[in-house]
Amino acid sequence: MERFPRASAYLKCIEPTCRATYDAGEQLYACERCGGLLDVCYEWSPAALHDILATFDARRASYHPYDQSGVWRFRELFPFATSPSQVVTLGEGNTPLWDAPRSAHYAGLKRLTVKHQGLNPTGSFKDNGMTTGIAQARRLGARAVACASTGNTSASLAAYAARAGMHGIVFIPGGRIAYGKLAQSLDYGAVTLQIEGNFDDAMRLVRDLARTTPLYLLNSVNPFRLEGQKTIAFELLQQRRWQVPDRVVVPGGNLGNVSALGKGFKELHDLGLIPRLPKLTVVQAEGAAPLVRWYAAHRVGNLLPVNRPKTLATAIQIGNPVSWLKAVRALDWTDGICTTVSEQEIADAKAIIGRDGIGCEPASAATVAGLRRLVSEGLVHPEEDVVAILTGSALKDPDFTVQYHTGQLFTDAERETHLAYAEGHLMSTFANAPRQVPGKPDVLRQIILDLLAEPSCPTA
Ligand code: F0G
Repeated sequence: MERFPRASAYLKCIEPTCRATYDAGEQLYACERCGGLLDVCYEWSPAALHDILATFDARRASYHPYDQSGVWRFRELFPFATSPSQVVTLGEGNTPLWDAPRSAHYAGLKRLTVKHQGLNPTGSFKDNGMTTGIAQARRLGARAVACASTGNTSASLAAYAARAGMHGIVFIPGGRIAYGKLAQSLDYGAVTLQIEGNFDDAMRLVRDLARTTPLYLLNSVNPFRLEGQKTIAFELLQQRRWQVPDRVVVPGGNLGNVSALGKGFKELHDLGLIPRLPKLTVVQAEGAAPLVRWYAAHRVGNLLPVNRPKTLATAIQIGNPVSWLKAVRALDWTDGICTTVSEQEIADAKAIIGRDGIGCEPASAATVAGLRRLVSEGLVHPEEDVVAILTGSALKDPDFTVQYHTGQLFTDAERETHLAYAEGHLMSTFANAPRQVPGKPDVLRQIILDLLAEPSCPTA
């Protein structure tokens, strides 16, 4: 087996006034001196890495399980594991980058590509970070791993814990996660605790428990999770033959993903491996947009949590994102921006992405909805070279999709306030409802002939 890359990894507080450092073998989720978030840092030798992109390319033809993982293929860029036995891989990453011409047209862009992280082993981008989080858990000798989750992190943790032979314990907001995600954590054998309250409540509880029990916390506040997640940046560049796009767009919830992408792009740039950085762009749902509000309030003070975050895109129904300071740092590094979109915009964008033959969950569709807004506001140029990250599979939340196409989609707010359903009714602008038809050949033949008499759909 080839030698496992080693560099001296250490933890470092991100607070400019602190910058305390710690050994990478310490079980820490925050700086002991100031409470700030931590980064995993490395003492790289740029000379040793100067030809590394060619090595990454060569590995795409390799049969070695580490090379076949779309995360561990890039292992020299996160050399913290101390033994190959720490690696638990399901072949994560390796997600496609597709042209999405109808979505581009809808957003007002000349061209748009989407990287579909929903094609990961458990159906979301969380697998990229979970494989590295589990590696660190093994390094520390953890027997039980835990997270709070809106559903995807819990599904991913459950699967990787099962593979690693560890106890998986997931804390989810009762009744507020999509069924597909709940089904996964049950099937993968995780202890599944439905908490009264929302994601932010579950997050607070699990952070406390991680201090008072031997649970190893695998939320994105754990910097080792973000090390795997940053490889989304590497893989998308590799798929573009290392050509940097103008912009990369992500939905924002707990803000770990944008933080990880920012770190990944910045490290490549600092190592001289890419010539510039893409502008990172975060899209939040209007009812769960604490980051966008903080920018609107001229970045003064600390982020004010949204107490009762609301969106049908349950993955991003988060009011108090733990990684917000890292997200701000990533937007500053890359000259990035953030925006919000309405429930209607998310629902319609999801249907349009579907017409490109691409299924995604509602949170992912916030990207295309956000781009449409930003193009119309003149903040994104129609000719920009843009990559949208679709974060989760459509199969995670089929209820949303069927309700949309059958005219049955209602906003959360209206359900909770018991107003007339009609007031919270979203329009099914691009509905494609199933039709009830008799099983009679004549009727069916006529339906087919009528359909063929219509012009076929243009691609843009
Ligand atoms: N999209 C999907 C499908 C997600 O599951 C999440 C987060 C996000 C976007 C937002 O990413 O939190 O890094 O800003 N889901 C977490 C979970 C919170 O528990 O599965 P973020």
